[in-house]
Amino acid sequence: MEILKGKTIVITGSGRGIGKSVALACAKEGANVCLTARTLDELNEVKDEIIKLGTKVRVLVKTADVTKYEEIESAFKAFYEDLGEFNGVIANAGYSRMWDSHDFDSNKFSEIININVSGVFFTFKAAFSYLKKDNKSDKARFIITGSAAFTNPMPRFAAYTASKYAVVGLQNSLALEYKKENINFNMILPTMVDTRMARGRKAGDGNKPPNVMNPQELNQYYIFLLSDDAYRTDNALIFINDFEEVKKFLSEAPPGKSESWDVFKDYLEENAPNIYSNVKKLGKLVDFIIKTS
Ligand SMILES: NC(=O)c1ccc[n+]([C@@H]2O[C@H](COP(=O)([O-])OP(=O)(O)OC[C@H]3O[C@@H](n4cnc5c(N)ncnc54)[C@H](OP(=O)(O)O)[C@@H]3O)[C@@H](O)[C@H]2O)c1
Repeated sequence: MEILKGKTIVITGSGRGIGKSVALACAKEGANVCLTARTLDELNEVKDEIIKLGTKVRVLVKTADVTKYEEIESAFKAFYEDLGEFNGVIANAGYSRMWDSHDFDSNKFSEIININVSGVFFTFKAAFSYLKKDNKSDKARFIITGSAAFTNPMPRFAAYTASKYAVVGLQNSLALEYKKENINFNMILPTMVDTRMARGRKAGDGNKPPNVMNPQELNQYYIFLLSDDAYRTDNALIFINDFEEVKKFLSEAPPGKSESWDVFKDYLEENAPNIYSNVKKLGKLVDFIIKTS
């Protein structure tokens, strides 16, 4: 069964990396996908890969810079005119540079904040009127790609760290403000992922360090947040490290302890109380992992 059959999902930063991987995963689950970033060639390559999957989904491509509101507005308008209302929007476009903070180029600092914070805000603002919000049982989803830099700041990443703290505040505020509009806001917070952002041109060369994840390993979390199973999940922060540990404990659990969150949670609490306490409000996601792994 296709989990997202017939839904329309918009993904920013979908020309490569995490956004590309999620776009392919959404298409495999039956969703029409709207791709946007600044580099047309990369977007068209993703479109070709999706078409080669042989699914019947529609794929739309529009270039836009998330820091330029008019560009994002016009791309989303074109998506809406072709495919109608959006079921989900993933604000994923992002950028980072590492520098000694006292030497950090001031324009680069602003650029990182503009892409990673204003870009998410512009994405929401441009999407709002097209986000499906008429049905309580089929809530629209706004998903932000955050970062584990929120709560685990890194030296020499001042701008990036500040930006990823800021989007948590942005999500908190939007989630409170748009409850009545039937929009759920949630965030995925990965650690290191094998993309150009983390490994430059070496991304995908097969030599990633073991602590670096493949972008495909994140797909399940995005699909969950877009699925019917997550219709009550709102204003959650999904720390990928915690859930990767949950997967480990699921695989090691004795028979009868890993069939559902209900039977697994006591085992997890006993063996990993900290992880249990971090994930206990997201039992639906654990059930989704059990169901789809
Ligand atoms: N890789 C990691 O280790 C890691 C860890 C935690 C969180 N994240 C987050 O994951 C998200 C995706 O990053 P990634 O790792 O997949 O990096 P990536 O491979 O460099 O992809 C970034 C995507 O964002 C787009 N983008 C960048 N600036 C943009 C702009 N101004 N307007 C529109 N699109 C723009 C890029 O396309 P164009 O350049 O063509 O515009 C590209 O499609 C980011 O929010 C990042 O902070 C990454």
